[in-house]
Amino acid sequence: MEPVDDVGGGTTADGDDVSWIAVAPASAIPPGDYATVEVDGALVAVFNVDGEYFAIEDVCTHDGGGLAGGVVENHEVVCPRHGARFSLRSGAALTPPAYEAVRRYETRVVDGRVEVRGE
Ligand code: FES
Repeated sequence: MEPVDDVGGGTTADGDDVSWIAVAPASAIPPGDYATVEVDGALVAVFNVDGEYFAIEDVCTHDGGGLAGGVVENHEVVCPRHGARFSLRSGAALTPPAYEAVRRYETRVVDGRVEVRGE
């Protein structure tokens, strides 16, 4: 899937929860699909697993490969370059050759838009 460019960004409607950032219409990331978005200068991969959204930084901690587009199984993504597995729930590196977790982002859907917040 092509990267989703700036689709609004910004804050939630009431303005007091400034740390959530809208990144894409939920409809743009159907179940089984993913999108890459930029969040505060970082490339973030947002995955839809059976209707639940997960977001991690799109940079493998092994050698910097992108994780978007990797096979997703059991809430884990497999790095397309050398096969390290990362948990989409926690960002943890589960198998070599990666040993460090990737940054994880919380997700939620508000008014039909996926929002993320860095942890
Ligand atoms: S860059 Fe991801 S496993 Fe090597």
